[in-house]
Amino acid sequence: MTDSRSRLPASSRERHGGDTQRSSEPAKVAPVVAAATLSPELSVELKMRARDLAVRYGDKTAIKDVTIDVHANQVLALIGPSGCGKSTFLRSLNRMNDTVPDVSVTGHVELDGEAIYGPEVDPVLVRRRVGMVFQRSNPFPKSIFENVAYGLRIAGISEQRVLVERVERALRHAALWEEVKDRLDESGLALSGGQQQRLCIARALAVEPEVLLMDEPASALDPIATAKVEDLVAELRDELTIVIVTHNMQQAARVSQRTGFFYMGRLVEVGDTTQIFTRPRERETEDYITGRFG
Ligand SMILES: Nc1ncnc2c1ncn2[C@@H]1O[C@H](COP(=O)(O)OP(=O)(O)OP(=O)(O)O)[C@@H](O)[C@H]1O
Ligand SMILES: [Mg+2]
Repeated sequence: MTDSRSRLPASSRERHGGDTQRSSEPAKVAPVVAAATLSPELSVELKMRARDLAVRYGDKTAIKDVTIDVHANQVLALIGPSGCGKSTFLRSLNRMNDTVPDVSVTGHVELDGEAIYGPEVDPVLVRRRVGMVFQRSNPFPKSIFENVAYGLRIAGISEQRVLVERVERALRHAALWEEVKDRLDESGLALSGGQQQRLCIARALAVEPEVLLMDEPASALDPIATAKVEDLVAELRDELTIVIVTHNMQQAARVSQRTGFFYMGRLVEVGDTTQIFTRPRERETEDYITGRFG
């Protein structure tokens, strides 16, 4: 599975619903619908894919049998009740789980067709290509400028002119520049919650990642700040691939092209966002999106 193809038939191997009907199971939809579902684009560009992924913390399994494709320049939303493994899955896409004691990750994850868990792979480089923004904004107790320059300095960039240029670009990208351009020396902690979250997004963007993982990035924000983050996600999609965890179903519907539903450590179903919210294939998905549990 370590081939280097980056263009594959759409969700050709995805399980748990996906964009294709599982051949091992009887068709659950009328043939005419199945034909329509099977014939979208002939191929999509895959940015990442996970196969049979399982993560255990000690002897407790947090996720298992997760097989999913992440399409390039799209937003994939992940939904599901608390504790179902969304953050665990997200962290396995950039080897963030490696930092957790007693963790075991099995299965396969690829970035541009290359295994990210290979013995020769440097997790730091994976994290540079696959950046992350967390639920609670976590600026460093440093200036706004240094918060954004942080990853660049670690990557060995020390020339002031380059740092200044890259910091401005990242702050513009994160729709924060206009609000902070005259106070770059002030502490990042002095910003409002919504600004701090955009600062963290700028920090993640500064190293120009190819994929951005966002774990409930707007859950602590007011509606205006939330709208800004959502607008940002929509704009960033032109340049990067985004995987976003959210408990807000309207947000998933607004920002994503595809949605995956996790339940009790498994990916129950993944597919086109409109399909998931209007015609879910699985009963569990329907119960969740209609508020019957979770
Ligand atoms: N660092 C850890 N050590 C031990 N167990 C963990 C750790 N992180 C998560 N877990 C466990 O793994 C399971 C999945 O947790 P995870 O945080 O991935 O869920 P989640 O879907 O993101 O939940 P939420 O919506 O509340 O953020 C839970 O049972 C949780 O207790
Ligand atoms: Mg979580």
